[in-house]
Amino acid sequence: MKRTLLKNALLVNEGRTEAADLLIEDRFISRIDRDISDPGAMVLDLEGHYLLPGLIDDQVHFREPGLTHKGDIRSESRAAVAGGVTSFMEQPNTKPQTTTIERLEEKFAMGARSSFANYAFPFGGTNDNLEEIKRLDPRATSNIKLFLGSSTGDMLVDDQQVLERIFRSTPLVICAHCEDEQTIRANTERFKAEYGTDIPMHLHPIIRSAEACYLSSSRAIALAEETGARLHVFHLSTGVETSLLRNDIPLAEKKITAEACVHHLWFSDADYQDKGSRIKWNPAVKTAEDRSALWEAVLDDRIDVLATDHAPHTLEEKANPYLECPSGGPLVQHVLPALLEKHLDGVLPVERLVEKMCHNPAILFDIDRRGYLREGYYADLVAVRTDLPWTVEPANILYKCGWSPFEGQRFRSRVMHTFVNGHLAYSQGTLSDESHAMRLEFDR
Ligand code: DOR
Repeated sequence: MKRTLLKNALLVNEGRTEAADLLIEDRFISRIDRDISDPGAMVLDLEGHYLLPGLIDDQVHFREPGLTHKGDIRSESRAAVAGGVTSFMEQPNTKPQTTTIERLEEKFAMGARSSFANYAFPFGGTNDNLEEIKRLDPRATSNIKLFLGSSTGDMLVDDQQVLERIFRSTPLVICAHCEDEQTIRANTERFKAEYGTDIPMHLHPIIRSAEACYLSSSRAIALAEETGARLHVFHLSTGVETSLLRNDIPLAEKKITAEACVHHLWFSDADYQDKGSRIKWNPAVKTAEDRSALWEAVLDDRIDVLATDHAPHTLEEKANPYLECPSGGPLVQHVLPALLEKHLDGVLPVERLVEKMCHNPAILFDIDRRGYLREGYYADLVAVRTDLPWTVEPANILYKCGWSPFEGQRFRSRVMHTFVNGHLAYSQGTLSDESHAMRLEFDR
């Protein structure tokens, strides 16, 4: 059986950083110990590297099927692997949408054919697919995704009775995009009256306002409390919403959890001036005060998980005037260097980074044997160095859309090697053409 021995790395796992060797046998981590020797193994010396569990991104949009001019499972999963993301949950707002079990199975077939990272495909809830939701197998399905505010793909669930029935009838985690549609519509009309169709980009967080976020997430949380549903609030963007969350119970027992995304933690409304539509997301990037409050909630565990909401669009689409300009931007290749920047700045200890992007998604979704450096777990691993600066530029961007909101940014950290199920999928700038990706399984 093929064995790979990783020597001399600093292993970051379960709150500790310690020098150790790690032996990979076939798809699994077979041993973690002080000084392993194995004459039959291929050896990789990782002196000077941190070795982390591969990142699990619980919210990405890879655009296949139907929107593949923006990205596809192959292109975006390769960018993910180059960025140290070894597992992802790909959202249902594709074309067609993933809102029937048949479509879901088709997407799994696409994942099996094309993905380079481990994959799950959440099921999209709509105003009229409750019967399908009830038929989902919790061991095979990561979660339900609900758009409680409209975004790319028009998947809004706005029938309150249906919403309540969904909350009452599924044991699965319900991941919700929360923005109040009435508030957004009223704000849009107000600014249309003033500017016509060419609304300035910096008004995006005034239109998709903090109030719109709070109204929707507080309603979703109240409904989850009333019905006992398991709710995960996606991409929090405001300080005021963090007051709705708790940190006095362990994650495994929480019924209401929350995610923050790297763009809301990195950018602020001061950046619209320079970056314009490249930082137009739903929910919108808000103020520096909101960003500080989000960091506080990440660090005190009211926010449980970090993710990207990787959502590529072409630059041509992004060049449209405000009302026709789609929201979203690509992030999976850069999330780890960006968060390691926060580690080097003393904001986010690397052990907390691993907790929020590896351990916690695994706990939250009951992912089978991933998210930790543990013997018997799948060898999804990422080796990084924090002392090799580089700058994001078109020549080193792997997204199909060819751009990044981080262009021009100098990162001090680099992803050096990524293993997916024991296979060296990325090494020092080169991606393997062989995929060993697997469908994620859930231990429920
Ligand atoms: O900005 C966003 N873009 N937010 C979403 O929720 C969807 C995403 C997309 O699919 O483009």
